[in-house]
Amino acid sequence: MKIAIFASGGGSNAQKIINYFRHHPKIGVALIVSNNTNAGVIDLAQKEDIPFYILQDGELEEEEFSEVLVALNIDFIVLAGFLKKIPNDIIKAYPNKIVNIHPALLPKYGGKGMYGMNVHKAVVESGEKESGMTIHYVNENYDEGSIIEQHKVELSFSDTPEDCAKKVLSLEHKFFAPCIERLLTE
Ligand code: GAR
Repeated sequence: MKIAIFASGGGSNAQKIINYFRHHPKIGVALIVSNNTNAGVIDLAQKEDIPFYILQDGELEEEEFSEVLVALNIDFIVLAGFLKKIPNDIIKAYPNKIVNIHPALLPKYGGKGMYGMNVHKAVVESGEKESGMTIHYVNENYDEGSIIEQHKVELSFSDTPEDCAKKVLSLEHKFFAPCIERLLTE
């Protein structure tokens, strides 16, 4: 089974997933996709010797890109901090085969503009006593696909958005790759 990881940022989740599947008998990371040429995840792809692709804006490219994924025999798509909306052609070509990780307990703190530190700031400013992570299938609307797995972490009254981000990221690093493995093997 070949996974493509889509990421826009540093790629710490991508790194964990690559490490987890490095010697896996059936599953491997075959492609990294980013919309950002300066993303840390591109350095990671080069370091790990994994092919990468920069997805530019534009409908023609998006249409062709879903064909590229199919031609490369990509079986499953993992969004790990990918901040661009997934083109509908890709969603149609990969029904229930695209998962996203969101750094909060959906359905709260999701939707357009809710990514990265924006999420953690909103959670802390609302005085939440807990936050967490959500893994969900991807559909046409931001953060609305069905939920696969959630994990919670307690927040203390003195936690800053940065503290919250750290706590949530460590949950993501622990649970994302095993969840992908379960989805691909059960
Ligand atoms: C992760 O916390 C992920 O949940 C979040 O971006 C971060 C990427 O970190 N995703 C979103 O906010 C999507 N709405 P990483 O680049 O270190 O893996």
